[in-house]
Amino acid sequence: MMKYKIDKTIKTFNVRSRKLSTTQINNINLYWPLIGINLDTKKFLMNKNDFLNSYSPAILEIGFGFGESLIYLSQKYKNINFVGIEVYVPGISYCLKKIHELNLKNIRIIYVNALYFFIYYTQNIKFYKINIFFPDPWPKRKHHKRRIIQKELIKSIIKNLLVNGTLHIITDSLSYYESILRILRKFDRLQNISKIFQNSLCKETITHSRFEKKALIKKNKIYNILYKKIF
Ligand SMILES: C[S@@+](CC[C@H](N)C(=O)[O-])C[C@H]1O[C@@H](n2cnc3c(N)ncnc32)[C@H](O)[C@@H]1O
Repeated sequence: MMKYKIDKTIKTFNVRSRKLSTTQINNINLYWPLIGINLDTKKFLMNKNDFLNSYSPAILEIGFGFGESLIYLSQKYKNINFVGIEVYVPGISYCLKKIHELNLKNIRIIYVNALYFFIYYTQNIKFYKINIFFPDPWPKRKHHKRRIIQKELIKSIIKNLLVNGTLHIITDSLSYYESILRILRKFDRLQNISKIFQNSLCKETITHSRFEKKALIKKNKIYNILYKKIF
């Protein structure tokens, strides 16, 4: 069964209660046991043979939606492990089915509020790269507090990135872009390398995701923000 940990008090997303279709439920029942990670035990963080261990650092995507970028990158970089975090169940269901159809062995999915994940589950994990593609922009000023990229999340991200690891954020909201830069500039352990992409993985600025497609259709400017953890 797909187990989850969602703290509804931190509302960076809307919890939608529309009923899942039979197909969506079937996808979850069939593929979650193969691809999902349940967070009811911390064991998976400790076991050196497990997916998330310090010997083969993974790339984490927060809020993967329907998983297009996860799937694209994991197909291209088969020797790297990918972990996706999402709270939107129809997206998770779709992504599970795709991962299974494509027989991808290097992706795991976690159904959890990312803020909760960083607080309770990441003591021993260091990621090689953390991607946040098109986070909900919450455009109204009164909703800015619901934006996922806040000082606290960045502190956790720094703690869980390897030295020389990168944080890659993409948005098409100018006001969110400016606010993200204001936040990131405060951390001296992070260096802005947006202009000098250093390796091929960092050059992957096309996400193939739904929100990227929407942004392109609207002809919105897309902002890539890339920071490296320097110590
Ligand atoms: C605007 S969508 C972008 C989805 C995808 N990255 C894309 O580019 O199409 C933002 C996604 O972040 C997810 N999200 C928002 N807050 C989250 C949180 N605290 N933990 C995990 N996922 C979250 C939402 O459920 C949503 O699917």
